[in-house]
Amino acid sequence: LTVDWDAGHYDTGGYEHYLLKEICEQPDTVARALRGRIDDRFHIAHLGGLNMDARELRSFRRVKIIGCGSAYYSGQMGAQLIEELARIPADAEPASEFRYRNPVVEGDTLYVAVSQSGETYDTLAAVQELKRKGARVLGIVNTVGSAIARECDGGVYLHAGPEVSVASTKAFTSTAVVFALLALHLGRVRDLSPAEGKRICDGLRRLPEQIKEILTLEEQIRELAIKYSDAPGMMFVGRVRGFPVAREGAQKLKEVSYIHAEAYPASELKHGPLALISPELPTVAIVPDDELLDKNLTTLEEIRARNGRIVMVGHRATDAADDCIVVPKNENELDPILLTIPLQLFAYHAAVALGRDVDKPRNLAKSVTVE
Ligand code: AGP
Repeated sequence: LTVDWDAGHYDTGGYEHYLLKEICEQPDTVARALRGRIDDRFHIAHLGGLNMDARELRSFRRVKIIGCGSAYYSGQMGAQLIEELARIPADAEPASEFRYRNPVVEGDTLYVAVSQSGETYDTLAAVQELKRKGARVLGIVNTVGSAIARECDGGVYLHAGPEVSVASTKAFTSTAVVFALLALHLGRVRDLSPAEGKRICDGLRRLPEQIKEILTLEEQIRELAIKYSDAPGMMFVGRVRGFPVAREGAQKLKEVSYIHAEAYPASELKHGPLALISPELPTVAIVPDDELLDKNLTTLEEIRARNGRIVMVGHRATDAADDCIVVPKNENELDPILLTIPLQLFAYHAAVALGRDVDKPRNLAKSVTVE
């Protein structure tokens, strides 16, 4: 069941759709997620709302992240950031699954609930079950004073402003930024060195300008979206850090354009999905310039050898792809945030080209507040 959507009194600010407005707001919303939260003296994050001191933060041996849909995918990004920067085992799970499987809840696990609206019933029910079992739960939430925010022990607000379009964009990137801050914070009370902390702080600061640069690619991305919008389906592939990007890219495309889109880890292709490759099923490949670049380029060759068409999203153009969207490079850990943005524009322009109801896709509601 879903509830009705109402844009209320918000306007599109001169944009044709809320979705485009919210995509284009991201330099500002990411800057707001960072504002006042980076400490240059110790290269740590200021997250007062956590309501936990360093000793408590050091006591957690696991991090479990829950959320639904895109909130869950941003949680997957968050889990990787926490494992990489803080070296704490972390994973994400759909809250809608978590709440029904009588999960083992342990005292030394930090639970993090993610929700733009703060009202998603499955996430709220999972938080309530965790609280009943005595767990410590943090919320990463956009809507101030929402049900999930009130239920949690502490947390971090996104300050992204109202997100009206059903498809989440600015809340997704802001959540990933907040996870980077949380990972930095958890890392700096453990073994992340000041120099490494500074590297991440500097990278975070570069994000708003780099997002502006990516938004200048809109016309190129629009042309590609039109070119591929007649495809009956698209495959999205990414490896490790690129996989949550691929999942979110597929989610955006299917939600707003109704083009069938599935995401796979690039490493899994040869274990099944490669059978799907044909000119009729183009692939969007996430290819960051990191330690897995060669592996990813090999994947492109494998797809090419099966006559697959490829749109590469990464940091340097390659002949192995039919089309390349090249975005600015940040630190390896933060690149997924930037790589997501071209995929939002791609989904938006594919939906427009197909004449879809961009801001209010069929069968979906902005907040799923009932079971
Ligand atoms: C995102 O584009 C979707 N509309 C949807 O998956 C959404 O992220 C999910 O329903 C969770 O919503 P929330 O963040 O408000 O909890």
